[in-house]
Amino acid sequence: MGSTELDAFVERVNERTDIYSVVSRYVTLTQKSGRYWGRCPFHNEKTASFTVSPDKGFFYCFGCGAGGNAFKFLSLIENISYFEAIKLQAQRLGIDLPTRRLSPEEERRRREEKSLLKINELAQEIYHDRLTKTAGGEVGRKYLAARGITQATIETFKLGLASDEWENLLSNLTRQGFSPQQLEAAGLVAKRKTASGYYDRFRGRVMIPITDIYGHVVGFGGRILHAEDDSTPKYLNSPETAIFNKGRLLFGLDKSNRAISAAGAAVVVEGYMDAISLFSAGVQNVAATLGTAFTLEHAKLILRYAKKIIFCYDSDEAGQRATIRALPIVQQAGAEVFVVKVPDGKDPDEFVRKHGKAAFDELIAHAQTLIDYRMNYVLARADLSTIDGKIRALQEILPVVAKIESVVTRNEYCKRIAAELVLDETLVNNEWNKFSKAAEQTPPDRSTVVQRQRLSGDDDTVLRRAGEVLLRMAWHEDDMLDALLMLVPREMFTPLHLEIIDWLKSCKEQNIRHDQMTAARDLSEAANAELSRILINGADNPRNTEILLFEDSLHIMQRANLKRQYNELLAKAEKYIPGDRDAYVEAVRRSLKIKSEIDNLKGN
Ligand code: CTP
Ligand code: MN
Repeated sequence: MGSTELDAFVERVNERTDIYSVVSRYVTLTQKSGRYWGRCPFHNEKTASFTVSPDKGFFYCFGCGAGGNAFKFLSLIENISYFEAIKLQAQRLGIDLPTRRLSPEEERRRREEKSLLKINELAQEIYHDRLTKTAGGEVGRKYLAARGITQATIETFKLGLASDEWENLLSNLTRQGFSPQQLEAAGLVAKRKTASGYYDRFRGRVMIPITDIYGHVVGFGGRILHAEDDSTPKYLNSPETAIFNKGRLLFGLDKSNRAISAAGAAVVVEGYMDAISLFSAGVQNVAATLGTAFTLEHAKLILRYAKKIIFCYDSDEAGQRATIRALPIVQQAGAEVFVVKVPDGKDPDEFVRKHGKAAFDELIAHAQTLIDYRMNYVLARADLSTIDGKIRALQEILPVVAKIESVVTRNEYCKRIAAELVLDETLVNNEWNKFSKAAEQTPPDRSTVVQRQRLSGDDDTVLRRAGEVLLRMAWHEDDMLDALLMLVPREMFTPLHLEIIDWLKSCKEQNIRHDQMTAARDLSEAANAELSRILINGADNPRNTEILLFEDSLHIMQRANLKRQYNELLAKAEKYIPGDRDAYVEAVRRSLKIKSEIDNLKGN
């Protein structure tokens, strides 16, 4: 789509957007002295410090500092990019999106995604037909029946069965016109190691299709029928592909999101079978992670539907440790967190099958708060036989206590801690006072420290994060753009970041103002999404935090660049050895010089 077309589109949406109606969809607003007031949806508060000024088209929260126009509000509350917010609003207003011409790269990616989706869809039908319609499916039907899974559930989740043969899916799908390479890219077949040719990756397993939020099949989890053989894993999952990313997908969410909205809460479990079992027992607001850790993306996905997240992981030590690790992530995302511990060593699937839905509802009703759960977790593992053990437990608990806002509640907890650790109450109170004073005195804020820690090491992730920080500063301050262009070689940035940087540079050269509207017009969709994410990430940072991060990031980039040169030179030197001694000595000399530059760089 041409830039003028997009311009006109954005302007049309902007003109017809009334911030009051946008916000009041999410927040109850009351009028007072020319403004509207309500309780801020972005932080927890009891009194209204969130305001909307319809004439200026802005919202602002005096409590947490969140603010901006209607699109910023939508992007924050829906966890989407700025440009996506404009599109969402257009949709709500019934304004058609102009069609955009794709770049060859976007074209190629879209084609690849389409082919992956088609292959997964066809595979799902093949697996499902085998389970439900063939004699060979009998083993699978028996297995699922023994696990209490009904025909209706098999249909809801489109469960299937992979045959025992080595080339069943392969020959079936190649007959339908797909190449083995395409099937390999989808993760459904693998190349033979010794002979030539390919073979089915999933064999003799119950197949659980994993769907994205729209219900498209993007991958599979396959459970072995009989787990007596330890040499094969109980579950085999599709590998990561362009459409299958475990850190961004939650199993079942396409089926449960309406129930999650209705209940105002999502129950998060560890296993596919737990989710399937709870869902078919009538607990429909459930979703499962895909055998990996719970991520911030997962939290944001759920927050589109409900504020409350109830963790119900396996009650074994691994499940409890996974719960403890997930909690800070969910809290950071702004969710209200609760934890259910399934009694007598069961997982949710076994529990609900044995005791029924009512008993499970009862567990949910008595879910522990995040604070209670963390406290119990530490107390249950404390070594009460030594003073040292008690003090260590106390030290672990104090940061939890610090999260309690009410003084009365806090005192209650201190009493309980003293009782459970068999410590004197005054001692606990003293330790708390020391802890809270120290916390107050910590310079600027903990978030600065945490963010700086995230910028250490030098793998690709760290480089990308450093690039984000540099970009953010360059967006806000011209001088920083100059510094970045002068001091950091282009190769150190990702292509997406380069797209934004080059655009910023051209804006500056042509003396054109850059803002999110012009960015939406000039940059690709991917770059726009990335830009919004980067800007929102640092939106709450005070300037001195941003400057510290900027310095750290510059150093990271420079160090990584020097290291790269050093390695290149070393590799070159290796090649010279047989013939040219002088060239060899010269390359080594230059690499040593770079090495000493690296060592001299601050923060190494
Ligand atoms: N998992 C995996 N690979 C394994 C074991 C587990 O990927 N070898 C993942 C799967 O996503 C599984 C989840 O971890 O759903 C939880 O594992 P587990 O508790 O063993 O699964 P259950 O759902 O309880 O499996 P089942 O009841 O079928 O034994
Ligand atoms: Mn289980």
